[in-house]
Parts: sequence; structure tokens; C-alpha cells
Amino acid sequence: MLTRLKTKSERKLAKQICKVVLDHFEKQYSKELGDAWNTIRDILITPSCWQYAVLLNRFNYSFELEKDLRLKGYHTLFQGSLPYCPKSMKCYLSKTPDRMPSERHQIGNLKKYYLLNAASLLPVLALELRDGEKVLDLCAAPGGKSIALLQCAYPGYLHCNEHDSLRLRWLRQTLESFIPQPLVNVIKVSELDGREMGDAQPEMFDKVLVDAPCSNDRNWLFSSDSQKAAWRISQRSNLPVLQIELLRSAIKALRPGGLLVYSTCTLSKAENQDVISEILNSYSNIMPVDIKEMARTCSQDFTFAPTGQECGLLVIPDKGKAWGPMYVAKLKKSWTTNW
Ligand SMILES: C[S@@+](CC[C@H](N)C(=O)[O-])C[C@H]1O[C@@H](n2cnc3c(N)ncnc32)[C@H](O)[C@@H]1O
Repeated sequence: MLTRLKTKSERKLAKQICKVVLDHFEKQYSKELGDAWNTIRDILITPSCWQYAVLLNRFNYSFELEKDLRLKGYHTLFQGSLPYCPKSMKCYLSKTPDRMPSERHQIGNLKKYYLLNAASLLPVLALELRDGEKVLDLCAAPGGKSIALLQCAYPGYLHCNEHDSLRLRWLRQTLESFIPQPLVNVIKVSELDGREMGDAQPEMFDKVLVDAPCSNDRNWLFSSDSQKAAWRISQRSNLPVLQIELLRSAIKALRPGGLLVYSTCTLSKAENQDVISEILNSYSNIMPVDIKEMARTCSQDFTFAPTGQECGLLVIPDKGKAWGPMYVAKLKKSWTTNW
């Protein structure tokens, strides 16, 4: 008898929850998030209810695709309510866990859309990129946020950095698949350890995004190798050190008056609020920027957990809004240079 090969999403559904990770998260997050954790856990361990947003590629816009999404019941995210939301960035969401098929990469053909966790757009929008600005995406692979940044504005210079060489290849392929050649010319791709970027390019950028390596809660819960998962958990307490070092480097690379956005896809307070508190406590020239307005204006589409910070938001997965986890913090470097 012929057996049909499983599709990528069927393989994901068939994946086992990693019990070591679940137990570890259960202990930490029930303490940090209280009752909200029960709903979050149920969503995180049920990939069949995960949602996928569709970010249209303005460089290969398809009217037919947009019409089709509307007919399928998709609606646009951030319907004109955010203080900064360029019309050129179009993202569609479905209330149900519908998943558009991924497009194949074909050399010479730009893709029409990118599938993503809609909460990933919050750090991008928080950066308020304007035409002509110099922007650094310090931890850029596989490139989702770089692509989203380019839907918002035409930077004068975009520097995408990624330390892992395999993931760097993936990043290059993403850029090649979505961005036309003339624009690729203003993008520099590098393979530095992000901790060295500040010394390499001091005060060079108007905007810096640090989408940091983190516990990546969704992914870790489905580790198929439980030994590797146990090792990751044992190393987990080192992540805040790396995250702070990346932020220190990003601060060096940022020009006075520039904006810095930090994001992670974990719920962990140690990797989110505590990292940002440490930075704010150790730099007198780094100011928190209030982003509560952002949470207020998109509460229809996202559920937020309190962070105790005006400059930090935490999107938590909820029923019918299975987006996140995504932590976003917004900081500004003051014009004075004393630290
Ligand atoms: C959360 S992912 C970035 C996702 C990406 N911004 C996107 O939206 O597609 C974090 C990335 O940081 C990279 N990374 C880890 N350590 C790094 C370092 N020291 N310097 C730069 N990148 C690093 C990881 O390999 C990983 O690709």
C-alpha cells in the first residue's frame, strides 16, 4: 500500500511535547503569570490552534491575493489605530487557525507573502522606521523582521547581522526571496557576534533592533531530543547575560537620540523585564519610552500580560488570539553622552 508523505504542518502536529521543558515552564510561569499560564500552556501545547498571519510583500503586491484573503474572512491588523503604522505594511489575520501554504523559493521570483506570528510586528512598528534612516537588525535570521521593516519604509542603510552561519544562509535566502535587487544593494549582511557590533560601528545607527536569542517557548516545548532540551534548560540562566551584552553593544552602535527596541519570544521575566531593568539601572543616557498606547490600540487583536513597565509589553497567547509570546521594550539614547 502506498503511504502519503506527511506535510510540514502534519509533522508538526505529530510532534511530541517535551515533558522536561513543560515541567520546567510550568513551575516558572505559573509563579510569574498566575492563572493566565493555564490558558497560555493549553495554546502552546496545541499547535492545531496556532494562528499564522499573512504579511503581504509590497515588492510583489497581488490584488488577487488580498481579495482572496478577504473572501476567506481575513481582516487587516492594526486598522489605522496605531500612532505609527505605515499604509505600505499590510498584514492579514484570520480569527481561526487557518494557515496559508508557504510559497516555494524560486530564484528570480519574489514571494508575495510571509507567514508569521502577528505579534512579531510589534517590535518592528515600535522602531518607527522612516525613509532614509540607518537601521541595524542585530540578530536577524531568518529575516522575518528585516522583511517587515522594509514593508514600512525605505531605509538609507539596513544592516542585518546574524552570528550563526547556517542561519545566515537562511537570512540571505529570505532577503533574496522578498526584496528586489536595487533595494538589496542598501542592505549589508554580516556574520559578527552581535556583542562586537558596538565597537565595530559606534554611534552609526538611527535605529537598532535586538530581537534576541531567548528561550523561544513555543519551539522548546516541541524539542524532539529530550537530552538536548535538558541541556538547554541547564544553560537557560546564561541567556540574560548574553542578552544584556547584546544590548550593551547595540547601545554603543546607536547614535545619540536614536531608538532601540528589544524583543524576545519568551514569557520569562528574567529574559524580559529583568534584562531591561538592568540596562536602565546601569545607563544614565538610556531612557524608557512609554509604549502603553501601543497595547491599548491593539488590544482587539492581542492579549497582554502586565509587565510592571511603561516601556515593556508582553503579548500572551489567548483563545482566538493565539499570538505571542512576544516581549517588546522600547528605549531611547539621550543626546548627552555621559554614562
Ligand atoms: C529570535 S532569533 C531572531 C529572529 C529574527 N529577528 C526574525 O525576525 O526572523 C535570534 C537570532 O539571534 C542569533 N544569535 C545568537 N547569538 C547571537 C550573537 N551573539 N550575535 C548575533 N546573533 C546571535 C541566533 O542565531 C538567532 O538567529
